[in-house]
Amino acid sequence: MEFTIKTASPERFRTGLLILGAFVGAPLPATSRAVDEASQGRLSRLVSDGELGDKAGATVLLHGLAGVAADRVLLVSFGKADSFGDKSWRDAFAAIGKALTTTVAKDAAIALDEAEIPPGRDAVWALRQASRIVADGAYLFEPASAEKKHKKKRGPNKVAFIVPAAVDETQEEALRQGRAIAEGMALAKDLGNLGANVCTPAHLADTARGLGRQYKFEVEILARDDMEKLGMGAFLAVARGARQEPRFIVMHYHGGKPGKGKGGKAKSPPVALVGKGITFDAGGISLKPGAEMDEMKYDMCGGASVIGLFKAIAAMALPLDVIGIVPAAENMPGGNASRPGDVVRSLSGQTIEILNTDAEGRLILCDALTYAERFKPACVIDIATLTGACIVALGKIPSGLFANDDELAEALTQCGIDAGDRVWRLPLWEEYQDLLKSNFADMANIGGRNGGAITAAAFLSRFASAYKWAHLDIAGTAWLSGEAKGSTGRPLPLLAEFLLARAAARKHY
Ligand code: BES
Ligand code: MN
Ligand code: ZN
Repeated sequence: MEFTIKTASPERFRTGLLILGAFVGAPLPATSRAVDEASQGRLSRLVSDGELGDKAGATVLLHGLAGVAADRVLLVSFGKADSFGDKSWRDAFAAIGKALTTTVAKDAAIALDEAEIPPGRDAVWALRQASRIVADGAYLFEPASAEKKHKKKRGPNKVAFIVPAAVDETQEEALRQGRAIAEGMALAKDLGNLGANVCTPAHLADTARGLGRQYKFEVEILARDDMEKLGMGAFLAVARGARQEPRFIVMHYHGGKPGKGKGGKAKSPPVALVGKGITFDAGGISLKPGAEMDEMKYDMCGGASVIGLFKAIAAMALPLDVIGIVPAAENMPGGNASRPGDVVRSLSGQTIEILNTDAEGRLILCDALTYAERFKPACVIDIATLTGACIVALGKIPSGLFANDDELAEALTQCGIDAGDRVWRLPLWEEYQDLLKSNFADMANIGGRNGGAITAAAFLSRFASAYKWAHLDIAGTAWLSGEAKGSTGRPLPLLAEFLLARAAARKHY
């Protein structure tokens, strides 16, 4: 799907499908009004007759409107005018994205009116979000086994955004960014949706290496013996039950310009992102029950979001330095697997008593967090499908957020709102640390039944004291179950927004 941006009169714009907005309880926005007038009031009559649903995202398709150049017109409801905001705007654009996947039109145009931008937002925001939502809506998982002839095309090749005012460079850029983010999400979704027989730690490593080759960034892959030499005892304790060899993936993206420090060469410190890459979580010796165990192929979605994000930032040529770390392994039972009661030494030197081998995410992440110290990062964000308890606490709407720094937590919270990929902060108080006491090591890897998302974060915090750190528990947000089963690509929109905001702020230095 290719996006362009145009200044034009919508009624005279030649396209297979012209998409226009309308509110309930307010006059038509100027752009839609122009088409309404050209067609002798067809649109306004339709709205006043109540034919267009009240709910944002309701649509009506009209064919061959007299006086209008487009073959078809799709009228989309932005909901009630007095409650118009981000949510109704997103619902409307999700509906537009969906409509574009089913239309037979060869090309389409979306007319954006000033009145259709939510309060407090601007055209650049709208274009970045809209292009991302529309491009993401066209995502379709196509397993490698699907034959070419079964490959369905989704939507028109060309989609134009018609804007009222003159087009400027920042709007063009916003459009490209939205699309790049959607492409990063598509990669993250593909990796999540693939079965664990295909999406192995080696497959994640190959994917990262391929991206590095394509976009010219450095990718380092550590194998088991490298990790043994380093002393990653916690990570290796998880990997030892599986036949699949573990990989420790490190991506280096250098988009930041060398700073003007005293020596003339001072570089600004990178942002480090750490993503959990458990390609299948059977639980290990603390075996999981069978129901829905297939969903544990999604346990690498944190890692996939980091790999997808690298595709997006490289495509956007983001002017920042970013390090991506993905510890990748399978958590399987086996003759060589770790047992409950085993004590292991982490890369940090702290010892851990493994009381439950199913609490494996924190074991691979703790060594990755220690490894991240070597990059002297400005901040570290880890992303992990870490606990079922987080889903119990927050449901599947926000990701859980924990942080040892208020400013970082607030920045992530705001970016989540801006990107429509929200987080909700949970506490990391000292008192929770007591729950991790062990008689045989510095700490246990579980903290009992209560507050499971928090004790998991409390465990991680012991390995993240050298820098500003945030932890995103995406167990509830990384995939959908049931009929709509599949990867969501979250929290890639949030992370991209965070990095873009950071890069924009740095421009002023
Ligand atoms: N990958 C799971 C967390 C998970 C569970 C994500 C269900 C999404 C849906 C994680 O490795 C795990 O097994 N966590 C345990 C921790 C417990 C043993 C302390 C959990 O949440 O039950
Ligand atoms: Mn587990
Ligand atoms: Zn897991």
